[in-house]
Amino acid sequence: MSNVLMILGSRNPDGQTATAAEALADGCRSAGATVDAVYLPQKQLERCRQCDDDGWGLCRRGDSCVIDDDLAPLMEAMSDADLVVVATPVYFGDLSESMKALLDRVRRVAVNRADSNPLVDKPCVGIAVAGGGGGGSFSCLYSLERILQTCGFRIVDQVSVRRQNMELKRQVLRQTGVWLVENLNSSPTQRGR
Ligand SMILES: Cc1cc2nc3c(=O)[nH]c(=O)nc-3n(C[C@H](O)[C@H](O)[C@H](O)COP(=O)(O)O)c2cc1C
Repeated sequence: MSNVLMILGSRNPDGQTATAAEALADGCRSAGATVDAVYLPQKQLERCRQCDDDGWGLCRRGDSCVIDDDLAPLMEAMSDADLVVVATPVYFGDLSESMKALLDRVRRVAVNRADSNPLVDKPCVGIAVAGGGGGGSFSCLYSLERILQTCGFRIVDQVSVRRQNMELKRQVLRQTGVWLVENLNSSPTQRGR
């Protein structure tokens, strides 16, 4: 396991979501992996257009999305990664809008490519950061788990972070990063569907 892609649904590289995700990245790097980070609000990403009358969309008949934006390169980067880390700030107890927009479309393309979905069994870790009052991280992770599973990912961990326990969770995340790089290849497949 050597190549980690970190996708962040925050726009702030100095913010709380980045701080939590960076702790995991630091652990991965210290165990020998390379980590690339993508901040979704910096990307051009439309929401799904539900682009035909029955709502199933044209991607059901082909294998790609009709919208020409950053979805395709992001799908390719996810396919190439050994591990995908999905880190979102908690907004209203749910995913951030940029993360929702991405995963809504990844789900469509992934499901419609059932036989050739490159994300099937791709190891993935979810992180939700409740940076305000601290509530809503579990409902956010519940939404995240459902959509990641439908995309085909193998969720190896989900970590809830609150502003109030950030220092503790940074330590947990760093150790998790080390553990993932050292153990992921040898871990038995666990598909918790
Ligand atoms: C629209 C909106 C909704 C939010 N809802 C919650 C919430 O439900 N629970 C919570 O603890 N914090 C909430 N927050 C605070 C964010 O979780 C916090 O700003 C975020 O984790 C930090 O984002 P950053 O990573 O971009 O720094 C909300 C913030 C915004 C902007």
